[in-house]
Amino acid sequence: MADTSRDQDLFLAAEAIRAKAYAPYSRFQVGAAILADDGKIYTGCNVENAAYPVGNCAEPSAIAAMLAGGAKRIKRIYVTGPGTMPVTPCGGCRQRIREFADLDVEIISHGVDGAPLICTLDQLLPHSFGPEYLPK
Ligand code: THU
Repeated sequence: MADTSRDQDLFLAAEAIRAKAYAPYSRFQVGAAILADDGKIYTGCNVENAAYPVGNCAEPSAIAAMLAGGAKRIKRIYVTGPGTMPVTPCGGCRQRIREFADLDVEIISHGVDGAPLICTLDQLLPHSFGPEYLPK
């Protein structure tokens, strides 16, 4: 069951961390806020680099914060960025989220001058490969 009651908290957390994003090259600051299985919110921002390909997206930063905080699973994730288009996770980040979220987990993508878009992980990454495919 989706826990939409905390979306405002997630939005505010994503916006607070987005203000700290290091994005001098694209000038496209992104914030991500995860509601985790321990009930806490973990956040991350994008961190670019002069060697462009080694920059990090906001989502893996938030996942790292979640693991560092002792939580294990993503229950809901909110991504914010500039503009009116919903800032949907890039392909690589969809797969990174897949590692720590069930397929019915909702991802809220929000270009903050527009309306949020809510999709499940399965909608954003259909027919996906995940940890359960690998032998134990
Ligand atoms: N970006 C993210 O942080 N997350 C995404 O899912 C989409 C893209 C960042 C990467 C780069 O720093 C900037 O947005 C422009 O692509």
